[in-house]
Amino acid sequence: MSEKAVLVTGACGEIGQALIQNLSARGGYRIVTADLAPLPVAIKSLSAEHLQGDLVNRIKQFYDYDFEIIYHLAASLSSKAEVATEEAHRINVEGTMQLLMMAAYRSEKYKKPVKFLFPSSIAAYGFPNLQAKQAAGLVKEDEYNTPHTMYGCNKLYCEKLGLYYSHYFGQRHLDENPPTMLDFRAIRFPGLISAFTLPSGGTSDYGPEMLHAAAQGKPYACFVREDTKISFMAMPDAIKSLMVLTEAPRESLSNAVYNIAAFSLTAGEFRKRAFAAFPCAQISFEPNPRRQGIVDSWPEDVDDALARQEWNWMPDYDADKFFDEYFIPEIKKRYAHKPSLRTQE
Ligand code: SER
Repeated sequence: MSEKAVLVTGACGEIGQALIQNLSARGGYRIVTADLAPLPVAIKSLSAEHLQGDLVNRIKQFYDYDFEIIYHLAASLSSKAEVATEEAHRINVEGTMQLLMMAAYRSEKYKKPVKFLFPSSIAAYGFPNLQAKQAAGLVKEDEYNTPHTMYGCNKLYCEKLGLYYSHYFGQRHLDENPPTMLDFRAIRFPGLISAFTLPSGGTSDYGPEMLHAAAQGKPYACFVREDTKISFMAMPDAIKSLMVLTEAPRESLSNAVYNIAAFSLTAGEFRKRAFAAFPCAQISFEPNPRRQGIVDSWPEDVDDALARQEWNWMPDYDADKFFDEYFIPEIKKRYAHKPSLRTQE
């Protein structure tokens, strides 16, 4: 059986590395990777070909490939995007637009819809104030679509671009022919936590940063208040969601954009969990007003009923399972050689 050609952009990022390892373990894929940086050792041998450089400048190169699936993960995350807005717009919007055009072109030319998987974010939401956030409960996909950040605006707009290229590009009358069109699917991810990689440039980063610091016996000053609450997810569940949504039959999907959720925790609850596993952890709270403002505009939790109904989404890890069976055991192994690590055995 021939291998499916898959493109993973942002391959060096946290989702990229975990996804590439998963695709490779499944087998049956020819994985082409793209990133500004060279591939890290952990995934180097898993990529059939690495396209290194600025995607926007080198988009023509991508037209030469027959990709069946594109995972477009390259992005400038929320905190970084806020201090370099123009650069973020170029990476997050221009890059996505160019790839969508390429995928739409190939879908039409070869009459075979390219699957385009796009990681959107809880940053697509925005509450006017903390009271509104706390009163909102589980937020549905079409509620509070008023992002406060460049990153959130970029993600929300790219969802719309994806819809445009998958439904309306060329403005063909939908009754004319069965439309081929690009097959765009987006997931609004909560904060993701991996035991194997560290995030950079995001605002949900305080969760994973705190835990990685505790595991290494390093002091950590959390940049949001103790009562700050948003939803989080184990990286293996994020990868699972991408794989399940990729494989879902197109006709079962009524929407192009889906919330997914796993568990919702305050920063104070993270600290409690960190202390339980690493009693010598040194964690303080020193809120940064700008980053606090960003997280205060994001939902405490989201309603993922649509994903559950339409593609049987179900996380494997709730908070207890995340800490007890994934994060703490893996992180203890990861930092076991560090002399400063003192854990409760
Ligand atoms: N983790 C992302 C960030 O913090 C949100 O999607 O920017």
